[in-house]
Amino acid sequence: MSNYYPVLVLIGLLISVISAYRKAPFYNYIGIQITIYGLLKSAALIMPPLPAQVIVMYVAMSLFAFLIYFSIREETFRAFLEPMRSVLADRDKKLQRVVLVFIAIPLFAGYITYAKVRPSYKPPVTGRIVHPEPPQEIDFRGKTISILGLENPLRKETDRLKDHLEAGKKIYYQNCFFCHGDDLDGRGLFEQAFNPPPLPFRGTDTIAQLPESFVFWRIAKGWKALPPGSHPWDSAMPSFEDFLTEDQIWQVILFIYEATGNKPRTWE
Ligand code: HEC
Repeated sequence: MSNYYPVLVLIGLLISVISAYRKAPFYNYIGIQITIYGLLKSAALIMPPLPAQVIVMYVAMSLFAFLIYFSIREETFRAFLEPMRSVLADRDKKLQRVVLVFIAIPLFAGYITYAKVRPSYKPPVTGRIVHPEPPQEIDFRGKTISILGLENPLRKETDRLKDHLEAGKKIYYQNCFFCHGDDLDGRGLFEQAFNPPPLPFRGTDTIAQLPESFVFWRIAKGWKALPPGSHPWDSAMPSFEDFLTEDQIWQVILFIYEATGNKPRTWE
């Protein structure tokens, strides 16, 4: 659907240019308003898409701006109102008047009401999925990593485990503690700033329930890993694939399990 909005921008521009040329301020306004609406809706230009309330606000603000602009000079204001006055008052516009008042406006009001009460099959916003199904494989810096059955490769390096844990601790306190907390309890400095809040790693609800491959995927991809219903507004978890190497992510994973005394779920 969003792909059609740039076309709306072109239509709006066309209307406003023609009506400016023909000195018809009302249609000029309609054209510019369509252009503004199309631009705000163009997903190609604005990512993530703007919430509907923000769009309504912009459209209302542009209406006020135009009213102020057109009312600076009396002639332009009169010309702006002319099409509305003419439809409502001129004798020869009876047909248009009947269509507008008895058909177009009731239909529009009916549609708005219908759109409001129509049952929606979208999941409710509150039903946020905390632990979505992970994909079979992910792309990590151009390399395909298979998530299914994947285990932390560093656990096999028993002689270097201490170094890996030490490195993981450093990575944690350089990258994660602002949000996930000094004590890995999800109560970092920024905890209050995010909704949903950063998850704690202590306790049995989060990483204790998850295989390490899931945790790897979440750290590598961050909010982008969540299903469409859960982002873009629904997570502040950054994606670390551009900042940490594969080994560094496995190191910080070793650390968050070790420090909380949790054991990852295994694939059996
Ligand atoms: C800007 C704040 C922020 C930073 C920095 C951050 N996180 Fe997160 N993290 C979050 C939020 C918010 C969530 C919960 C929402 C979600 O699941 O995306 C989360 C969720 C997670 C999860 C999912 C847990 C689960 O049970 O599904 C993991 C794992 C995780 N973070 C690990 C890390 C690690 C490791 C780091 C550091 C390398 C880190 N995070 C840095 C905010 C942050």
